[in-house]
Amino acid sequence: RRTIGVAVLGMGNVGAEVVRILQQSASDLEARVGAPLEIRGVAVRDLGKARSWCSPSLLTDDAASLVTRDDVDVVVELIGGIDLPRTLIGTALEHGKSVVTANKALLADYTGELATIAARAHVDLYFEAAVAGAIPVIRPLMQSLAGDTVQRVAGIVNGTTNFILSAMAENGDDYASTLAEAGRLGYAEADPTADVEGYDAAAKAAILASIAFHSRVTAGDVYREGISTITTDDHESAATLDCTIKLLSICERIDDSMGRQRVSARVYPALVPNSHPLASVNGAFNAVVVEAENAGRLMFYGQGAGGSPTASAVLGDLVMAARNKVHGGRGPLESTYASLPIAPIGDV
Ligand code: HSE
Repeated sequence: RRTIGVAVLGMGNVGAEVVRILQQSASDLEARVGAPLEIRGVAVRDLGKARSWCSPSLLTDDAASLVTRDDVDVVVELIGGIDLPRTLIGTALEHGKSVVTANKALLADYTGELATIAARAHVDLYFEAAVAGAIPVIRPLMQSLAGDTVQRVAGIVNGTTNFILSAMAENGDDYASTLAEAGRLGYAEADPTADVEGYDAAAKAAILASIAFHSRVTAGDVYREGISTITTDDHESAATLDCTIKLLSICERIDDSMGRQRVSARVYPALVPNSHPLASVNGAFNAVVVEAENAGRLMFYGQGAGGSPTASAVLGDLVMAARNKVHGGRGPLESTYASLPIAPIGDV
């Protein structure tokens, strides 16, 4: 009976949880996949760092060799950054490995490139964990709503900024100490500028807009404002208007002045009326509202950041990719975008 070999790249908050769950739930996962999942190696930057949850014999600092090993079937990329994971994922796909990644910054610009390589190699590229942590939102958009026409995807997709804004609004906490706490809790990116200046949310908006509208939207197409200039006074003013300040990511299908269909994607701190469901999404929680022509309005809510919630989405993808390796079959194809033109900034 075959075994599915798994390579894990990166051992941060999420990587450590993925390895822990793979070991702890091995027999359940084996039953669901139809074959045992075996970790072939874990690529880390610093071999000297102590890691009690992982056998030292699995650790390597040679990710490039790990992703091409014959006994690896699925590569889980959790390194972050762009250039290195882009090369490693491309190589892994070309060598017939399916890939699971949570790398939103990479996917925002390179989903098309990587999906094309995956399609050519007849392997899967899954990335449920890249947007909104544990919340299933990629798969519903890509599969469940594939026959509908999505008009709008809007919500809170960055846990760090929502944690900061909630603490400032609820307790009057100051910006800097709340940001430090988000880092300690494992919500913030390695460089929290990506969170507080809206780059992380913009990358996620690009991914959501691309999938929802069968288009190609990259991070540079997304209008972006962050939350670093929001003060406790702003929160007090919002409260007097019976509103809450939230960093929203909004992706819409719009008609331009010439009557042509366009896609608009934008991220900015917005006044949300307290009666709106997004106003009560607090802490590191995320929520995404999808409006589709026939389905109507759908709302997805849950933990959007942190090791275990993000690992949950990674493991879901890993089980799907491993099942396909065992039983045949392929995941959804991303390479068939119809390419709606992108509305330029300022057009809305
Ligand atoms: N830094 C991200 C956030 C992690 O705060 O939402 C999840 O993508």
